Amino acid sequence: MASNFSWTKQWYPVTPVSYLDTFQPTAITLLGKRLVLWKEQEGKWIAMDDTCPHKLAQLSLGKITEQGTLMCRHHGWCFDSAGKCTHMPMVRDEKALATACKSERSQVVTYPTKLLQGLLWVWPDDNSTAFADCTAKQPAIIPETQVEHSTTDWFMSEVPVGYTISVESSFDPSHAQFLHEGIAGFSPERAIPIEHFALLGEMSSEAGFTLQHSGYNIFNRDMDAKRQFTPPCSNTTIYQYANGKSVLFQLYFVPTKPGYCKHIGKFIGAG
Ligand code: FES
Repeated sequence: MASNFSWTKQWYPVTPVSYLDTFQPTAITLLGKRLVLWKEQEGKWIAMDDTCPHKLAQLSLGKITEQGTLMCRHHGWCFDSAGKCTHMPMVRDEKALATACKSERSQVVTYPTKLLQGLLWVWPDDNSTAFADCTAKQPAIIPETQVEHSTTDWFMSEVPVGYTISVESSFDPSHAQFLHEGIAGFSPERAIPIEHFALLGEMSSEAGFTLQHSGYNIFNRDMDAKRQFTPPCSNTTIYQYANGKSVLFQLYFVPTKPGYCKHIGKFIGAG
Protein backbone atom coordinates (compact mmCIF):
# COMPACT_ATOMS: atom_id res chain seq x y z
CA MET A 1 0.00 0.00 0.00
CA ALA A 2 1.58 3.32 -1.09
CA SER A 3 1.67 5.87 1.71
CA ASN A 4 2.90 9.40 2.28
CA PHE A 5 2.79 8.92 6.03
CA SER A 6 5.17 11.24 7.86
CA TRP A 7 6.29 10.29 11.37
CA THR A 8 7.22 13.84 12.26
CA LYS A 9 4.13 15.60 10.91
CA GLN A 10 2.00 14.18 13.73
CA TRP A 11 0.83 15.14 17.21
CA TYR A 12 2.34 12.99 19.98
CA PRO A 13 1.28 13.14 23.64
CA VAL A 14 4.66 13.37 25.37
CA THR A 15 3.60 13.49 29.03
CA PRO A 16 0.66 14.10 31.35
CA VAL A 17 1.03 17.73 32.35
CA SER A 18 0.76 16.62 36.00
CA TYR A 19 4.19 14.98 35.59
CA LEU A 20 5.85 18.31 34.69
CA ASP A 21 7.50 20.84 37.00
CA THR A 22 6.26 24.31 36.15
CA PHE A 23 9.47 25.93 37.41
CA GLN A 24 12.08 23.60 35.92
CA PRO A 25 12.87 22.54 32.37
CA THR A 26 12.26 18.85 31.61
CA ALA A 27 14.23 16.69 29.20
CA ILE A 28 12.34 14.27 26.96
CA THR A 29 13.16 12.17 23.92
CA LEU A 30 10.72 11.79 21.05
CA LEU A 31 11.51 9.87 17.85
CA GLY A 32 15.14 9.84 18.93
CA LYS A 33 15.17 13.64 19.16
CA ARG A 34 16.23 15.20 22.48
CA LEU A 35 13.84 17.99 23.45
CA VAL A 36 13.39 20.26 26.45
CA LEU A 37 9.95 21.23 27.76
CA TRP A 38 9.46 24.38 29.81
CA LYS A 39 6.68 26.77 30.71
CA GLU A 40 7.04 30.40 29.72
CA GLN A 41 5.65 33.39 31.61
CA GLU A 42 2.28 33.48 29.89
CA GLY A 43 1.62 29.85 30.69
CA LYS A 44 2.40 28.24 27.36
CA TRP A 45 4.46 25.04 27.31
CA ILE A 46 7.46 25.29 25.01
CA ALA A 47 9.19 22.39 23.28
CA MET A 48 12.61 23.07 21.77
CA ASP A 49 15.79 21.23 20.87
CA ASP A 50 17.63 20.29 24.04
CA THR A 51 20.92 21.56 22.66
CA CYS A 52 22.43 24.99 23.17
CA PRO A 53 23.64 26.47 19.87
CA HIS A 54 26.74 27.86 21.64
CA LYS A 55 28.60 24.72 22.76
CA LEU A 56 25.87 22.09 22.60
CA ALA A 57 25.15 21.89 26.34
CA GLN A 58 21.80 20.37 27.33
CA LEU A 59 19.36 23.24 27.82
CA SER A 60 17.26 21.05 30.14
CA LEU A 61 20.09 21.41 32.70
CA GLY A 62 19.53 25.17 32.74
CA LYS A 63 16.88 27.25 34.46
CA ILE A 64 13.88 29.43 33.76
CA THR A 65 14.73 33.05 34.49
CA GLU A 66 12.58 35.77 36.07
CA GLN A 67 12.33 37.29 32.60
CA GLY A 68 10.64 34.11 31.38
CA THR A 69 13.52 32.84 29.26
CA LEU A 70 15.43 29.57 29.42
CA MET A 71 19.04 30.09 30.51
CA CYS A 72 21.76 27.66 29.47
CA ARG A 73 23.71 26.39 32.45
CA HIS A 74 27.05 26.48 30.66
CA HIS A 75 27.63 30.17 29.80
CA GLY A 76 24.24 31.75 30.51
CA TRP A 77 22.86 32.37 27.04
CA CYS A 78 19.09 32.94 27.32
CA PHE A 79 16.37 31.90 24.88
CA ASP A 80 12.80 33.08 24.56
CA SER A 81 9.72 30.99 23.77
CA ALA A 82 10.42 31.28 20.03
CA GLY A 83 13.96 29.92 20.50
CA LYS A 84 15.52 33.32 19.87
CA CYS A 85 18.65 34.14 21.85
CA THR A 86 17.95 37.19 24.02
CA HIS A 87 21.08 37.47 26.14
CA MET A 88 24.77 36.52 26.15
CA PRO A 89 26.25 37.58 29.49
CA MET A 90 29.83 37.67 28.18
CA VAL A 91 29.01 40.16 25.43
CA ARG A 92 28.95 43.68 26.87
CA ASP A 93 28.89 45.71 23.66
CA GLU A 94 25.21 46.29 22.81
CA LYS A 95 25.70 46.40 19.07
CA ALA A 96 27.72 43.19 19.08
CA LEU A 97 25.09 41.57 21.33
CA ALA A 98 22.27 42.56 18.99
CA THR A 99 24.16 41.16 16.00
CA ALA A 100 25.00 37.91 17.78
CA CYS A 101 21.43 37.42 19.02
CA LYS A 102 20.06 38.05 15.54
CA SER A 103 22.27 35.40 13.99
CA GLU A 104 20.58 32.19 12.90
CA ARG A 105 23.46 30.36 14.55
CA SER A 106 22.28 31.48 17.99
CA GLN A 107 18.67 30.26 17.58
CA VAL A 108 17.11 27.08 18.94
CA VAL A 109 14.49 25.16 16.94
CA THR A 110 11.08 25.16 18.63
CA TYR A 111 8.14 22.83 18.00
CA PRO A 112 4.36 23.31 18.15
CA THR A 113 2.69 22.21 21.39
CA LYS A 114 -0.89 21.79 22.59
CA LEU A 115 -2.38 21.05 25.99
CA LEU A 116 -5.40 18.78 25.63
CA GLN A 117 -7.18 16.46 28.07
CA GLY A 118 -4.36 16.79 30.60
CA LEU A 119 -1.64 15.78 28.14
CA LEU A 120 1.07 17.89 26.52
CA TRP A 121 1.21 17.22 22.78
CA VAL A 122 4.21 17.97 20.57
CA TRP A 123 4.49 18.16 16.77
CA PRO A 124 8.15 17.10 16.32
CA ASP A 125 8.72 18.42 12.82
CA ASP A 126 11.57 20.90 12.36
CA ASN A 127 10.39 22.14 8.97
CA SER A 128 9.95 25.93 8.83
CA THR A 129 6.26 25.38 8.00
CA ALA A 130 5.61 23.21 11.09
CA PHE A 131 3.53 25.81 12.96
CA ALA A 132 1.21 26.15 9.96
CA ASP A 133 1.21 22.45 9.04
CA CYS A 134 0.18 21.31 12.51
CA THR A 135 -3.11 23.22 12.33
CA ALA A 136 -4.36 20.87 9.61
CA LYS A 137 -4.36 17.85 11.91
CA GLN A 138 -5.99 17.21 15.27
CA PRO A 139 -4.41 15.11 18.04
CA ALA A 140 -5.97 11.67 18.60
CA ILE A 141 -7.78 12.60 21.80
CA ILE A 142 -10.43 10.64 23.69
CA PRO A 143 -13.93 11.25 22.29
CA GLU A 144 -15.29 14.28 24.16
CA THR A 145 -18.49 12.40 25.07
CA GLN A 146 -16.38 9.97 27.12
CA VAL A 147 -14.18 12.52 28.90
CA GLU A 148 -16.95 13.59 31.29
CA HIS A 149 -16.78 10.12 32.85
CA SER A 150 -13.06 10.45 33.57
CA THR A 151 -12.18 10.53 37.26
CA THR A 152 -8.58 9.32 37.22
CA ASP A 153 -5.34 10.91 36.10
CA TRP A 154 -3.05 9.54 33.43
CA PHE A 155 -0.34 7.03 34.22
CA MET A 156 2.92 7.03 32.30
CA SER A 157 5.96 4.80 32.19
CA GLU A 158 8.79 4.44 29.72
CA VAL A 159 9.52 0.78 29.06
CA PRO A 160 12.31 -1.05 27.21
CA VAL A 161 9.88 -2.24 24.56
CA GLY A 162 9.86 -0.61 21.15
CA TYR A 163 6.94 1.12 19.45
CA THR A 164 6.08 -1.69 17.01
CA ILE A 165 5.88 -4.44 19.62
CA SER A 166 4.00 -2.17 22.03
CA VAL A 167 1.34 -1.24 19.49
CA GLU A 168 1.04 -4.72 18.02
CA SER A 169 0.65 -6.30 21.48
CA SER A 170 -2.10 -3.88 22.41
CA PHE A 171 -4.18 -5.26 19.51
CA ASP A 172 -3.50 -8.84 20.59
CA PRO A 173 -5.25 -9.09 23.98
CA SER A 174 -4.58 -12.83 24.27
CA HIS A 175 -1.18 -11.90 25.72
CA ALA A 176 -2.74 -10.36 28.84
CA GLN A 177 -3.31 -13.59 30.81
CA PHE A 178 0.33 -14.54 30.42
CA LEU A 179 2.40 -11.37 30.19
CA HIS A 180 0.42 -9.59 32.92
CA GLU A 181 -0.01 -12.61 35.20
CA GLY A 182 -0.71 -11.50 38.76
CA ILE A 183 -1.95 -8.02 37.73
CA ALA A 184 -5.67 -7.18 37.81
CA GLY A 185 -6.61 -10.86 38.05
CA PHE A 186 -4.80 -11.95 34.89
CA SER A 187 -3.74 -15.59 35.05
CA PRO A 188 -2.85 -18.27 32.47
CA GLU A 189 -5.50 -20.54 34.05
CA ARG A 190 -8.18 -18.01 33.14
CA ALA A 191 -7.28 -17.71 29.44
CA ILE A 192 -9.85 -18.70 26.82
CA PRO A 193 -9.53 -18.58 23.03
CA ILE A 194 -10.88 -15.41 21.39
CA GLU A 195 -13.79 -16.65 19.28
CA HIS A 196 -14.53 -13.56 17.20
CA PHE A 197 -11.81 -11.28 15.89
CA ALA A 198 -12.48 -9.06 12.89
CA LEU A 199 -11.37 -5.91 11.12
CA LEU A 200 -14.20 -3.38 10.89
CA GLY A 201 -14.21 -1.31 7.72
CA GLU A 202 -11.13 -0.09 5.92
CA MET A 203 -7.56 0.36 7.10
CA SER A 204 -5.38 3.32 6.10
CA SER A 205 -2.16 4.98 7.18
CA GLU A 206 -3.98 8.25 7.89
CA ALA A 207 -7.14 6.96 9.60
CA GLY A 208 -5.82 3.71 11.10
CA PHE A 209 -8.17 0.78 11.69
CA THR A 210 -10.67 -0.73 14.14
CA LEU A 211 -10.81 -4.31 15.38
CA GLN A 212 -13.73 -5.99 17.09
CA HIS A 213 -13.29 -9.06 19.25
CA SER A 214 -14.88 -11.18 21.94
CA GLY A 215 -13.59 -11.99 25.43
CA TYR A 216 -10.26 -13.59 26.21
CA ASN A 217 -10.64 -14.84 29.79
CA ILE A 218 -13.27 -16.61 31.88
CA PHE A 219 -14.46 -13.29 33.35
CA ASN A 220 -15.03 -11.40 30.11
CA ARG A 221 -16.26 -14.26 27.96
CA ASP A 222 -19.42 -12.31 27.00
CA MET A 223 -17.65 -9.03 26.38
CA ASP A 224 -17.53 -7.22 23.07
CA ALA A 225 -14.48 -5.00 22.51
CA LYS A 226 -13.69 -2.44 19.82
CA ARG A 227 -10.06 -1.40 19.50
CA GLN A 228 -9.35 1.62 17.36
CA PHE A 229 -5.84 2.51 16.23
CA THR A 230 -5.40 6.14 15.27
CA PRO A 231 -1.98 7.08 13.92
CA PRO A 232 0.55 7.75 15.06
CA CYS A 233 0.20 6.06 18.46
CA SER A 234 -3.34 5.86 19.89
CA ASN A 235 -5.28 2.75 20.92
CA THR A 236 -8.81 3.56 22.10
CA THR A 237 -10.57 0.44 23.32
CA ILE A 238 -14.18 0.29 24.44
CA TYR A 239 -15.17 -2.82 26.37
CA GLN A 240 -18.91 -3.47 26.32
CA TYR A 241 -20.09 -6.00 28.91
CA ALA A 242 -23.19 -8.19 28.92
CA ASN A 243 -24.58 -6.35 31.99
CA GLY A 244 -24.70 -3.09 30.03
CA LYS A 245 -21.57 -1.55 31.58
CA SER A 246 -18.80 -0.22 29.40
CA VAL A 247 -15.23 0.87 30.02
CA LEU A 248 -12.94 2.89 27.80
CA PHE A 249 -9.20 2.28 27.96
CA GLN A 250 -7.06 4.89 26.26
CA LEU A 251 -3.45 4.03 25.60
CA TYR A 252 -0.74 5.94 23.77
CA PHE A 253 2.55 4.39 22.68
CA VAL A 254 5.01 7.21 22.26
CA PRO A 255 8.22 6.23 20.43
CA THR A 256 11.07 7.77 22.39
CA LYS A 257 14.22 6.08 21.12
CA PRO A 258 15.04 2.75 19.46
CA GLY A 259 13.76 -0.11 21.63
CA TYR A 260 11.92 2.22 24.04
CA CYS A 261 8.43 3.56 24.25
CA LYS A 262 6.38 5.63 26.68
CA HIS A 263 3.07 4.05 27.63
CA ILE A 264 0.55 6.71 28.65
CA GLY A 265 -2.96 5.64 29.56
CA LYS A 266 -6.10 5.84 31.61
CA PHE A 267 -9.32 3.90 32.20
CA ILE A 268 -12.67 5.63 31.93
CA GLY A 269 -15.77 3.91 33.25
CA ALA A 270 -18.63 5.02 31.05
CA GLY A 271 -21.37 3.45 33.17
S1 FES B 1 26.90 26.06 25.88
FE1 FES B 1 25.11 27.17 26.28
S2 FES B 1 25.77 29.15 26.71
FE2 FES B 1 27.59 28.06 26.22
